[in-house]
Amino acid sequence: METVLSLKNVTKTIKGKPIIKGIDFSVKKGQIYGFLGPNGAGKTMTLRMIVGLIKPTGGEIEICGNSIRTSFVKAMRNVGCIIENPELYDYMSGYDNLRLLSGMEPQITEQDLDEAIQRVRLSQRINDKVNTYSLGMKQRLGIAQALMKKPPLLILDEPTNGLDPAGMKEFRQLIQTLAAEEGMTILVSSHLLSEVQMMCDEVAVILHGKIIKTAKVEELAVDRKVTWHVKDVPGALKILEEQFQLTGIDHADGRVSACVDDDRIVAVNAAFTNAQVGMLFVCKEQKSLEDLFMELTGGETIG
Ligand SMILES: Nc1ncnc2c1ncn2[C@@H]1O[C@H](COP(=O)(O)OP(=O)(O)OP(=O)(O)O)[C@@H](O)[C@H]1O
Ligand SMILES: [Mg+2]
Repeated sequence: METVLSLKNVTKTIKGKPIIKGIDFSVKKGQIYGFLGPNGAGKTMTLRMIVGLIKPTGGEIEICGNSIRTSFVKAMRNVGCIIENPELYDYMSGYDNLRLLSGMEPQITEQDLDEAIQRVRLSQRINDKVNTYSLGMKQRLGIAQALMKKPPLLILDEPTNGLDPAGMKEFRQLIQTLAAEEGMTILVSSHLLSEVQMMCDEVAVILHGKIIKTAKVEELAVDRKVTWHVKDVPGALKILEEQFQLTGIDHADGRVSACVDDDRIVAVNAAFTNAQVGMLFVCKEQKSLEDLFMELTGGETIG
C-alpha cells in the first residue's frame, strides 16, 4: 500500500524547550489514522508542522513522496486541513465563505465547490448565513473548505470537539465515506479513546511529545476492563490470580476488576459460580484513555 504521509524523527524545540521529541509514524492510502493524546501532548503542534504552518526543528516529513523541506509547494498541494477552529465569516452565507476561500486557490473550480458542498450534505442550507448554522454544520462547512481542492490527505485537529453524540456520529460517517468511496486518507487527532476506536483503523498514541504506541485499533480494543461484583472479594481475587494468572487486578469493596477478553469472561464466571464467591453481577466498561496510558506507560498518569 502506498504511503501518503510519513514522519521520521520529527522534533520541535521552542525557546530551548523540546516540545516534540522525535516522532515517527506513517499513514497509508485510504486509512483513517487516529492521533490520540491528552491535552498538551503535542497533537496540534505536530499537525501544524505537517501542514506547513510551523517549521520542524529536525527530522523529515513527506506527503505523497514530497519532502516538506525540499518540495514544500508540491507537498502542500496534497493536503487539506482544519487546524483548530475553521475561520468562517458569520455574517456571510456558507457558499460565500467557500467562494472567498476558494479564491485563494485558483485551481479550484465551481464544480469542485459544488461537489464539496454535496459531500458534506450542506446543499439545503448553503445560501443561509453562517450565524444561523449549528456547530455541526459549521464543522461540515469547514470540512467542505478542506475538500474543495480534493486533497489526497485530509488533516483534522480534534474535529468533534463540542459536537453532541449525534453530531459526532454524523461526522464519523462522513469521514468513513470519504475514505471508503473517495480513497481519501485522513489523519484525525482526538483526546477520546472511544472516539478513535469507533472512527479509525490505526492509531498513534502521543504523550509528552513522544509516540508511545502505534497500533491497529483492534489491538487497542481487545482488553476491556471487566468488573465482577462479588460478596467474597478475597476468594474472587484468589481465583483470578491463581487459576487465570491475571495481572493488573484492581479491587475495592465488593468488586474485582481486570482486563480480560470475552472468552475468558465466560470461564471466570463459571469458576466464580463453582467457588461460590457470591457473584451479584458483571459489567464490562470501555477502557478509558487514562487506563490505556497507565498500561502503556506502566503507571505514569497523563496529568
Ligand atoms: N508557541 C508555543 N511556545 C511554547 N510552548 C508551546 C507553544 N505552543 C504550544 N506549546 C506547548 O507545547 C505542548 C504541546 O501543545 P499542543 O497544543 O500541541 O498540545 P495538544 O496535544 O494539541 O493539546 P490539546 O489537546 O490541549 O489541544 C504544550 O505543553 C504547550 O504548552
Ligand atoms: Mg490541540
